[in-house]
Amino acid sequence: MELNGKVAVVTGAASGIGHGLAKRFAAEGAKVVLADIRSDTQLLQSDPIDGRFVRADISTEDGVRALVEDVKTHEGRIDLFASNAGVAFKMDIHSPQKDWDKIVAINQMSHIWVARHVVPDMLARGEGYLLVTASAAGLLNEFGSLGYGVTKHATVGFAEWLGFTYRDQGLRVSVLCPEGVATPMIAESAYLQKDAVTTDDVAEAVVKGLAEERFLITTHPGTLEKFRAKAQDYEGYMARMTEYQRKIRAASGSK
Ligand SMILES: NC(=O)c1ccc[n+]([C@@H]2O[C@H](COP(=O)([O-])OP(=O)(O)OC[C@H]3O[C@@H](n4cnc5c(N)ncnc54)[C@H](O)[C@@H]3O)[C@@H](O)[C@H]2O)c1
Repeated sequence: MELNGKVAVVTGAASGIGHGLAKRFAAEGAKVVLADIRSDTQLLQSDPIDGRFVRADISTEDGVRALVEDVKTHEGRIDLFASNAGVAFKMDIHSPQKDWDKIVAINQMSHIWVARHVVPDMLARGEGYLLVTASAAGLLNEFGSLGYGVTKHATVGFAEWLGFTYRDQGLRVSVLCPEGVATPMIAESAYLQKDAVTTDDVAEAVVKGLAEERFLITTHPGTLEKFRAKAQDYEGYMARMTEYQRKIRAASGSK
């Protein structure tokens, strides 16, 4: 997809990757709608984007529906919907139900609600693009956040399904699977910060991926190598992850 003249909606656009995508889409000539639950981030003030901001809470279907209706009313249509907003926090098997409800709603269900309210118009027009932000944690996994690894795997599976089900009717789907990106989300994760790329790097990979209509968009060459190694030798993957987890525990002083 070429972005010039297209209507592009980006969720999570008040910070991090979403802000980087919105900024780059605007620079490519798209009419950008920035959606976020927060309108008060420092980044929105210090690096304003040529686009319209809509306050939206994508953790409920009503919130997603309201956002889509708002864009249809003001911009007339949606060519590209970047379903990007997400959250990450520590979780394990003992996490309370409210944590599961929150992470499943934002990291997983939001993409399904977006598709439910955006795809029918795209199919009627015979064209349209959904960019879904998952994570390398959706291909590999995540240490320390059970809910993050689970919802990102589900999101990769959802994007695959959407992609192959509607491709013949003109819908295009890409799934973005970054490793570390320097944003507030990884502010407390030393191991992700070590090789983190910038949000500009992510936007560059995305614009290239959209132009090529590529399904899987990654940001680190190692992601695909690790994914291939996992598929070729699942037992070896589990052994490496166990060892890495042991090192993380040892470094943090817990058992
Ligand atoms: N930063 C990384 O290393 C990294 C790596 C892989 C994937 N990701 C994914 O990239 C996406 C963006 O993450 P980021 O690093 O830019 O994080 P971030 O915390 O900088 O930005 C996330 C944005 O989403 C918004 N948001 C949260 N809940 C919302 C809701 N209910 N409704 C609307 N907006 C909401 C926040 O207000 C925030 O502006 C997420 O899906 C994340 O899981 C990030």
